[in-house]
Amino acid sequence: MKLFQKTKIGNLELKNRFIRSATWEGMCENDFVSERLINLYEKLAKGGIGLIITGFSHVLKDANSNIGQMGIYDKKFIPKLKELTDVVHENNSKICVQLVHCGGQAVKPEGPSAIKTPFYKKIPEELSIKRINEIQDAFARASEIALEANFDAIQIHAAHGYLISQFLSPVANKRNDEYGGSLENRARFLLEIYEKIRNIVSEDFPILIKINCKDFFDNGFTENESLQVVKWLENMGINAVEVSGGMRGAKKTPIMTNIDSEEKEAYWKDYSKMFKESLEIPVILVGGLRSYHLIEKLYNESYADFFSFSRPLIKEPDLIKKWEKGNFERAKCISCNKCFIPAKKGEGIRCLTD
Ligand SMILES: Cc1cc2nc3c(=O)[nH]c(=O)nc-3n(C[C@H](O)[C@H](O)[C@H](O)COP(=O)(O)O)c2cc1C
Repeated sequence: MKLFQKTKIGNLELKNRFIRSATWEGMCENDFVSERLINLYEKLAKGGIGLIITGFSHVLKDANSNIGQMGIYDKKFIPKLKELTDVVHENNSKICVQLVHCGGQAVKPEGPSAIKTPFYKKIPEELSIKRINEIQDAFARASEIALEANFDAIQIHAAHGYLISQFLSPVANKRNDEYGGSLENRARFLLEIYEKIRNIVSEDFPILIKINCKDFFDNGFTENESLQVVKWLENMGINAVEVSGGMRGAKKTPIMTNIDSEEKEAYWKDYSKMFKESLEIPVILVGGLRSYHLIEKLYNESYADFFSFSRPLIKEPDLIKKWEKGNFERAKCISCNKCFIPAKKGEGIRCLTD
């Protein structure tokens, strides 16, 4: 039961190696945390998970892409955000906020370059240097709000085709200035955001990153580039990396369906292994994790240090508690992605296969 021993990310003590991966719940009201969301987090915390990562929370007003997304761009959100962190802490778990700007996918689309991509609905406005600085400062301001609201950690969302991932990807980033071209230039937007957040939080406050191992587009962001970016961040003091991959319209997407056999589980595991072999910081594996004994094997064989779940916890918020009690039944989620249907209608995520 090594997976259930106390451990740490940076200085943050965690009761086990299981994480709720960031999941847009579609339950916020005018960007404010709602009672429904607080109830859901209470269930998740009671369900045994060591760390809950919130749904992607937008750092500027029109930087969201979905309805019911959580806002973290104004101090007015703090009291409700605090209710969310309180309920998690009262139930013996920890909570990390995921910060995002949806960029070319946002309500007000703006991106590294004004071009068409398979993951944009509209051609975004190209960001000026002044606007780049404003957005980076918004990540810093959101971090201040996160501290005041008692979050235990911050995760930078650099995956899945949102703004940071758009800068990293040569498919979306065609800039000729210091933010485009070479990997160093494409990563500059992210590295500067990291620095600005670190300047707000203390040296030992955990900052995590979720990043694509690769885009899965021809001539897209590659695994070697991704690893290099994380190595730079590691040198700068980042505390953990969650390895995801793919984006809309690419050969692979982040939320793969029909994970109905063990061979299809843990679909980013070869990349997390590659990252783990080259990094000192903890590596978090997400994507299609369903079977306890497979996770144990992946841990023993050094594929990852932590294991992160989204859909299985929509169906069974108490999955980890069941495993902790010795009921090692496979997660019941069938990876059909129907949980998105009610959320897109504004009703919040819900499993439709009960
Ligand atoms: C309803 C839903 C909402 C999601 N929202 C986010 C999000 O806000 N941020 C993020 O990084 N990933 C998000 N994801 C992706 C998950 O975090 C995870 O990477 C992916 O679902 C694969 O893990 P799973 O097989 O455990 O579901 C979402 C997934 C689902 C199903």
